[in-house]
Amino acid sequence: MTSPPYSRIIGIGRALPRRVLTNEDLCQIVDTSDEWIRSRTGISERHIVSDGESTATLAVEAAGDALRRAAIDPAVVDLVIVATSTPDFAVFPSTACLVQDQLGLARAAAFDLSAACSGFVYALITASQFIAGGAYRTILVIGSDTLTRYLDFEDRSTCVLFGDGAGAVVLTSSERPGGLLSFMMGADGSGAPYMNVPAGGSRAPLTADTLAGHENKIHMNGREVYRFSTTVPSSALKQAACAADIRVEDLDLVVAHQANIRILQTMSKNLGLPQERFFSNLERYGNTSAASVPLALCDASTAGRIGPGALIGLVGFGAGLTWATAIWSWQGLIGD
Ligand code: ACO
Repeated sequence: MTSPPYSRIIGIGRALPRRVLTNEDLCQIVDTSDEWIRSRTGISERHIVSDGESTATLAVEAAGDALRRAAIDPAVVDLVIVATSTPDFAVFPSTACLVQDQLGLARAAAFDLSAACSGFVYALITASQFIAGGAYRTILVIGSDTLTRYLDFEDRSTCVLFGDGAGAVVLTSSERPGGLLSFMMGADGSGAPYMNVPAGGSRAPLTADTLAGHENKIHMNGREVYRFSTTVPSSALKQAACAADIRVEDLDLVVAHQANIRILQTMSKNLGLPQERFFSNLERYGNTSAASVPLALCDASTAGRIGPGALIGLVGFGAGLTWATAIWSWQGLIGD
């Protein structure tokens, strides 16, 4: 995207459920230890939803925060995209429609985008196309997930990994050069068996048997997911860098999906970039799926790790299998 209009992130926000579940709490539920979880994943606690909280309530809070920081009238929003795998309703309406109503986005179109943990990066790239093409000027892009609703708290190999949350950005059409410089999106549906929720969709509706077999919960082949996560996303980031005509070493910060600290460490080795260039907040949040990249972007911005002119590598990867990388030139938030 090397000619105007450019996409610019002018506001960013986040939301986390009030309830915190620590590794010590999990030790009361399954046979695990704080040492095992920290050493294998880097996670020490995560936020989880309680009654009254949902993917939509978190999305509304994060988007409201982003709109306030952008200091714009919600009435100017043209489109809202919610990246999620855990919508409030199994069939319809979309979570984006609930957000559109709650925030009073009177003239906005709304849809959900499903690409698991890659969802936010897929959505940001999609939104940037609407802006580059001139169709829309202001778009809310949200990543919100509540995977803990689908955790089997009898399966220690998955229940320790995930948390809930939401992150949101306000994207506007801008004359200021920057925004999305290049991207690389991909999918490999042959990896669908490696991470899924077997029952509850049109293939296997919920029955007493599927419920008894915990088939409405997340099933994962950790080793295959790990193998994928430590190879494909790094290559995809290199391809995006090449397409933007920059070197990976030129990136000021990599904001990657926060699944596991070992995955981030391997990515840093694959790319030949020091670990300090990889932002990480997964110790406190766990893997929040589509929320993880915008939550990390929000925390990185608050921590002063991203300033105007910074070159950022965004990396999403997850179930599907799916992946999406983007080279983003940060023009600064409103007020920067
Ligand atoms: N506490 C204690 N022991 C455990 C736990 C636990 N929570 N979970 C598994 N174990 C045990 C296993 O039972 C096994 O015991 P055994 O040898 O007696 O059978 C042992 O630990 C080793 O199990 P592995 O599965 O080989 O452990 P591994 O070192 O591969 O780590 C992990 C597992 C952390 C899940 C790893 O495979 C991984 O990170 N995979 C990527 C998964 C991921 O990030 N998924 C996120 C969703 S997809 C995405 O976001 C991209």
